[in-house]
Amino acid sequence: MRLEQRISVFPDAREVGRRLAARVADAIRNQPAIVLGLPTGRTPLLFYEELAALARSGAVDFSRVTTFNLDEFLGLTPEHPSSYRRFMQRYLFDHVNIDPARINFLNGAAADAAAEADRYEHAIAAAGGIDLVILGIGTNGHIGFNEPSSGLEARTHRVTLQPETRRSNAPLFGDDLDAVPLEALSMGMGTILDARAAVLLATGARKASCVERLVTGPITTGLPASFLQLHRDVEIMLDEAAAQRIRS
Ligand code: F6R
Repeated sequence: MRLEQRISVFPDAREVGRRLAARVADAIRNQPAIVLGLPTGRTPLLFYEELAALARSGAVDFSRVTTFNLDEFLGLTPEHPSSYRRFMQRYLFDHVNIDPARINFLNGAAADAAAEADRYEHAIAAAGGIDLVILGIGTNGHIGFNEPSSGLEARTHRVTLQPETRRSNAPLFGDDLDAVPLEALSMGMGTILDARAAVLLATGARKASCVERLVTGPITTGLPASFLQLHRDVEIMLDEAAAQRIRS
C-alpha cells in the first residue's frame, strides 16, 4: 500500500495523542508481552499523557510490556536531569505499572559507545525484536537521531547531532544551547525498519514541510524518514497543521 493511503489526519495534536494511545493500548491488550520502541521529544507528550490516563483507569496493563527507547544523549548518565531516560520516567514510566527490568535504554555515559551500541542491538534481538515502534520526526527529517547525510547507518551507533537538532533540544537544557551534547547514541535505520509495525507522529505547522517531503518525495538519505516508504506496516498520524502541505 502506498504511503499516502496510510495517513490519518486528526483535528489537533490532542486527538492525535488520544488516538495513538488507544491504538497502543489495543496492541498491548492483544499482545501483553509486546516490545515497544519509543521516542522522546515534544510531539509524544500528549500521547504519553493519554496512555498514562488509560493505565490509571485500569484500561491497559504494562506489567509484561518491554520498551526500548530510540536514542540518548552521549555523555549524560541515566540520572542526569536532561537525559531522555529521565524524560521517559517523568512522562510515562512513573505513571504505568511497567516492570523496571523491562525498560531498556542506551546508556549515554557508557565508557565504550561502540560496545554500548552493540549491547543494545543484542538486547533488542534477545527480546525477539521490536513489535511496534513509535516515531517522531525532526524538522530536518531525522527519525531517532538518524540525521540527514550522504549515508545512513543500519544499526545502533554514535551520531553527531546537527545544529538544528541541538537547537530543538535546547528546552530540555534550560534553553542553554551550549549545554546540549554534541553527540548521541541512536538506533540505526535498519533497527527501526526491522520493527514489525511503525507509527510516525507529526504535529504542528513546523513539521508540514518535512511531512510533505516524506510523503511525496523520493527515498533519500537526505530525509531519513523517507525510508519508511519501504516499510510494510507503517502509519502516519498527523494533525491538520502538519498535514497542510499534503492536502490540496
Ligand atoms: C527523540 C527522537 C527524535 C524526535 C524528533 C522530533 O527520541 O527520536 O527523532 O522524535 O526530533 O522531536 P519533537 O517531537 O520534539 O519535535
